[in-house]
Order: sequence, then structure tokens, then C-alpha cells
Amino acid sequence: MKATHILGIETSCDETAAAVVCAGEQVVSNVVASQIATHWPYGGVVPELASREHLRAIVPVVRRALEEAGQTYESVDAIAVTQGPGLAGALLVGVSYAKALAFALDKPLLAVNHLEGHIHAVLLEEKQKGNREIGFPALALVVSGGHTHLYLAQAQERGWMYENVGQTRDDAAGEAFDKVAKLLALGYPGGPVIDRLAKHGNPEAVKFPPAHIKGRPRPGRSRRRVGSDAPGMTFDFSYSGIKTAVLRYTETHNMQPALELRRRALAELKSPRADDVLKLCDRQTLDLVASFQRAMVSDLVGKTLNAASELDVATLFVTGGVAANSELRSAFERESAAAGLPVYFPSRPLSTDNAAMIAAAAYPKFLAGDFAGLELSAEASLPLR
Ligand code: KG4
Ligand code: ZN
Repeated sequence: MKATHILGIETSCDETAAAVVCAGEQVVSNVVASQIATHWPYGGVVPELASREHLRAIVPVVRRALEEAGQTYESVDAIAVTQGPGLAGALLVGVSYAKALAFALDKPLLAVNHLEGHIHAVLLEEKQKGNREIGFPALALVVSGGHTHLYLAQAQERGWMYENVGQTRDDAAGEAFDKVAKLLALGYPGGPVIDRLAKHGNPEAVKFPPAHIKGRPRPGRSRRRVGSDAPGMTFDFSYSGIKTAVLRYTETHNMQPALELRRRALAELKSPRADDVLKLCDRQTLDLVASFQRAMVSDLVGKTLNAASELDVATLFVTGGVAANSELRSAFERESAAAGLPVYFPSRPLSTDNAAMIAAAAYPKFLAGDFAGLELSAEASLPLR
């Protein structure tokens, strides 16, 4: 029998992506059209522009993904699409296009949660490498521009089970990277440029106080360690405080004039690269950037490992755009090894948004016959269950 080929489509934010994945474990093609150049002048994603760019890109991107896979519209077995969460107008482009394709081609339609996609990016690549030894339950940290969420993930007889055991109370970690980059005039998106610049600064130069989580644990989201009498707990994050602390630091250390000069110099360049930004940064800025990244990484790694130990999980997954961060990866590798816990990340291209992860997450649904109807609608705040 011919192996199942699923065409995945992803348009939840600022990447128009299409991919073909075979049997949920072989990436046959993976095409991503980035909108960075469109949103760069605004220092963040402009939702209306994102929808317009998706409309422009979706047809050629899907066509290329099919061509590169040696497939056709007719030969693929199913169409998978990101239903949410994400920007409503952006999601709508992918969902409408996938529905139209499924209807016209009379193929099954599969709806995928974007966060589930990020988790399956890890599984997809491990299976592709031949790793069949992953222990469960896995604790998955999905850390991106829109999310800093912890899920317990486990395969079940029909599909997967996910349980949310922690999340950010305010800004997502990627959002903090992007906002700090914007306020320091380093460009957009913030994560990759901060990752690059941090290597040139002293991460011990500025001390940020640990994030203080206000309020009580959220009811219904806490979990008790198996066999323990200790009360259930949540494993939440908070990143709006550190962004304000960076802003205060620039104010109290008179960094504003240099910052304005950099903002103007970067505006003159067409599409500045990290090296261009580096040339425009003084030691004080590089130290601040390195210290910010160190504080973010310590908090993410510390809280995640604490949750992993309390919940007694078998494996750790770290996925989403921020999982591309080099310091985060090495810190997780070091700390997880010390805790005797295997940790898995997707490769960098599959850490950030892509459609291969959507096609991979759709495969268990295909096997279970869990198809979506043509009434499928985009859900900007779709929860993962
Ligand atoms: O998963 P993703 O592509 O889109 C969302 O679902 O949000 O994540 C994008 C986020 C952005 O905030 C970006 O700044 C961050 O991931 N990011 C990074 C790195 N590469 C991307 N953050 C830190 N270090 C990186 N190397
Ligand atoms: Zn994402």
C-alpha cells in the first residue's frame, strides 16, 4: 500500500507555509515564505498586512511544496491546516484555502492546533532519525512569540492527549525578546538578533530580579505528583516585568540618545542583518542584551525543570520559535543531563513556524478518522486539549 502523504498548510502568524509529510515521519518538502521584510519597519507583526501577504503567497507556496515533493493536488491523501490559535485574519486564509482544496479534490480535511504542531515537530524529527525510544509522558515547553506553555503529552489509542500544566501570566517569552529588541532599537524579530548579539556581551553585567508570579494557582490547572499528598501546583511564567526592567535600565543609565541614533541608522538600511546591528551597539547595550537573555534562559530552564521533577515525567520537549535560541538549547542540554532527563528539540528550521509540523500532527488524526467538516472555522484562541 502507498504510504500516506499529507499536505500541511500553516498561516497562523507571519509565515505562509506548506509541506508534504509522509506517514507522519518523513518531511518530503517544507516551504516557508517569511513576511519579515513586510513587518520590519513596524517592529512587530501588523495583522492586516499579514493577512494580505498570506493571500498573495498561499497559492505559489502550496504549489512549490507539491512540486518539491514530486506530488500533485490529486496524489496527496489529505489536507491538514492550522485552525488556531493565531491571528484571526491570517488563520482564515489558510483555513479557507484548505477547505476549498479539500472540497474541490474530494480529500479528507484535518484541523490541527498550532501548539500541537510545535510538539509534533519534535516527534517528527526524532522518528525521522529512527529514534523510537522516547519515554512518556513528555513535558513539552512550547515557547514562541505567542506562547510560553507547558503541556504533558502522551499518545493514546486514538490520537494524543495534552494537559496544560503551566503558562505565562502575561507576555510570552518570544514577545519579551521582540519587545526588548524594539525598545533597544535592534530590529525585528528580536529573538534571532538578541541571540546573535548576546554572544558579544557580559551576561553577568546586569542583574534582573526573578519574575514574581502574583496571585493564587489557577484552579483546575494544577496537578499533583503521582502518589504525593502535597497540594497540586501550577508552573506559571511571567515576562512583562523584565521588559519594563530593561526599559528602566536604559532610562536610568542615559542610554536613550545612543538608542535613537541606532534607530535612525537602522532605518536608513534596507534589510539590516545582525552584523549591521552589532556594529551599531556599544558595550553597555551588548552587556544589557546578554544579561536579558541570560535571565530569560535561567527562568525558562529553571521553571521547566522544576515542573518536570514535580510531575515526574520521562522526557522533556522544548519547541517553538524561542527553542531556536542557542543559549537556551545549551542550558537545557546541560541542566537536563544533570537531572538525568532526556531533552529533545526540533532542528532550527522546524522550531519556528512551518507546515511540516502541521502535516505531522495531522497523521494520528488521519489514522483515527478524526476529520474536519467543511464548516471548519478559524479559532484565534483555540485551546489545546
Ligand atoms: O514559533 P514562532 O515562529 O511563531 C509563533 O508561533 O509565535 O516563534 C516566533 C518567535 C519570535 O518571538 C522570535 O523572536 C522568537 O520566536 N525567536 C527566537 C529565536 N528565533 C526566533 N527567540 C530567541 N532566540 C532565537 N534564536
Ligand atoms: Zn508557532
